[in-house]
Amino acid sequence: MEKKMNRREFIKTSLTTGALVLAGDMVKGGIDSAYGAVKIPEVEKATVTVITDNYYDALKRHYKIARRYGIEIKPGTDIYKFNLHAEHGLSYHIETVLSGNRHSFLFDYGVDFQGVSRNMELLNIDLKAVEALGLSHGHFDHWGAFLEILKSKKEEFREGIPLYVGEEGLTERFGRFPGGVVSLRQLKREDVERLGFVSIVEIKDPTSIVPGAYLTGSIERVTEYEKDSPNMLIERGGKLVPDNFIGEYAVVLNLKGKGLIVLVGCAHVGIVNMVKHAQKMTGIDKVHAVMGGFHLTGAIPELIQKTVTDIKAINPDYIVPTHCTGYEAITAFEREMPGQFILNTVGTRYLFTV
Ligand SMILES: [Fe+2]
Ligand SMILES: [Fe+2]
Repeated sequence: MEKKMNRREFIKTSLTTGALVLAGDMVKGGIDSAYGAVKIPEVEKATVTVITDNYYDALKRHYKIARRYGIEIKPGTDIYKFNLHAEHGLSYHIETVLSGNRHSFLFDYGVDFQGVSRNMELLNIDLKAVEALGLSHGHFDHWGAFLEILKSKKEEFREGIPLYVGEEGLTERFGRFPGGVVSLRQLKREDVERLGFVSIVEIKDPTSIVPGAYLTGSIERVTEYEKDSPNMLIERGGKLVPDNFIGEYAVVLNLKGKGLIVLVGCAHVGIVNMVKHAQKMTGIDKVHAVMGGFHLTGAIPELIQKTVTDIKAINPDYIVPTHCTGYEAITAFEREMPGQFILNTVGTRYLFTV
């Protein structure tokens, strides 16, 4: 039976077993880190719950590792409780099981406070057990509900809980739309500090967020086709310039005997770059699952095709495109990788077991 441990108990046990993997441990090297620089521990189990995403289907059936929310309706069930909130946003709850011990963290927070907060309640997300918070990058659709959730559920969160952000994760962003340039808002450092119980940890290098899960730190760009968008902007030296998302990172797990699980927010730096970076930093080539927003909505067909071809060559056991991947790319993955493709819906729990 898995049990929960506090940090002190975990350190004690780890020291006696010689398997010390402290959350918050950082590996120097970042973008240029050597092949296999991160000795990522194997987890025997992991569960990823999608708290919010762009798409919801209450009647979608369980499929392979995807356990859907809301299909087990029986007489007496309050039908209103089986309606989750979907939006242009993304939020995950991730649980690892390492040496029989469970650890969990949140990665991204969606936009709409009421919707995301209600989803957390309906999905029974245990915030008291959450050991850390991560943010994939500085766009509002990943942190919009952050401050209100933390404020309203303050009693449930641990004192001093770390918030891991990449470089410029707390910097204002801008988007160029047909009508002109618009601020995409900013998660302000002072607003996070004002919460009084969250400590900001800015990272550049691979960092363990909880035992069994790493944040990549900055991603090395290796493909020639995954380029910065001229429509995603950041202010540098008083000028708006294309954003290179230097601080965007992925979550990486290593499932025992199965390979890497790579979870991303928006993949503005390119999903192929992100997966290849995870392979390089861990020295593990086998990829079990790739999941998240691949930012291919509105992309030209050649870009979608090149991405699908390269992901197909990496040959993950599961591919779960969500959020900003867009209909055309999602259907392309389904067409070209039918045995590996899973359509995500809000509330789905992905059960990764050995
Ligand atoms: Fe984004
Ligand atoms: Fe996004």
